[in-house]
Amino acid sequence: MNPKGHAALVTGGASGLGEGTAMKLAAAGCKVTILDMNMDLARAVAAKIGGHAEPCDVSDEASTVAALNGATAKFGVPRILVNCAGIGGAKRIVGKEGPMPLAHFQKIVNVNLSGTFNVTRLFAADLQHEPALEAGERGIVIMTASVAAFEGQIGQAAYAASKGGIRALILPAAREFAQFGIRVNGIAPGIFKTPMMAGMRDDVQKSLAEAIPFPKLLGTPEEYAMLALHMVENRYLNGELVRLDGAIRMAPR
Ligand SMILES: NC(=O)c1ccc[n+]([C@@H]2O[C@H](COP(=O)([O-])OP(=O)(O)OC[C@H]3O[C@@H](n4cnc5c(N)ncnc54)[C@H](O)[C@@H]3O)[C@@H](O)[C@H]2O)c1
Repeated sequence: MNPKGHAALVTGGASGLGEGTAMKLAAAGCKVTILDMNMDLARAVAAKIGGHAEPCDVSDEASTVAALNGATAKFGVPRILVNCAGIGGAKRIVGKEGPMPLAHFQKIVNVNLSGTFNVTRLFAADLQHEPALEAGERGIVIMTASVAAFEGQIGQAAYAASKGGIRALILPAAREFAQFGIRVNGIAPGIFKTPMMAGMRDDVQKSLAEAIPFPKLLGTPEEYAMLALHMVENRYLNGELVRLDGAIRMAPR
């Protein structure tokens, strides 16, 4: 679909891949609402792009309902949803201090997987009633997985399980939403230079980049956003998770 003039939601749009996507969609003519817990950053990004920001914890039902209502009141029912909100956190299943606290696993799955599902279901429930565009298309959902959905490393059990859940969610959602003309795709980023990564020492970032076959660089939010925009524009791309990773295949550790 042509994104121009349509309302779009970007969760996690206050930072990193989501921020890059919010900027790219705004440049393509979308009216963008950022859904994020960090309202200082969300407002700053929204101001930069002539967009709007709503406070939202994607893993909380009431918070997300309120944020979607706020977005719709501002720009109309959104036709584009890019799910970028997510958290990391490394821990072994059985570490030196004993078994991983169940709450650690649940927190990561709750934000990354249940949060993506939560926003997606509410977005589609609203969009199904909107008029169809060309060839019956109504809109698109993009989910953010990770290469950890394919090659989770030691210490990434919770994160990899959350991203593997997203990988598995894409196809049944695309199949179900076909009746509404809503496509569902995903992006599985490799190693990207975002605030999530910026906390790492320079030498660690360098050694991560060395492991990437080509280009030997961390990906940028712009490169992620280019693929997200392509997924919006190319109506034949549906039910697919695309790796964006410079051909990296993560080692066990
Ligand atoms: N950076 C990478 O190398 C990389 C690689 C693979 C996958 N990813 C995934 O890409 C997505 C974006 O990562 P990033 O690197 O841009 O991270 P980031 O930390 O820069 O941005 C994440 C944003 O999500 C928001 N957020 C966190 N929890 C939230 C919640 N419960 N509700 C609403 N907003 C919430 C944060 O406030 C932040 O603005 C994540 O899902 C991450 O797992 C990142």
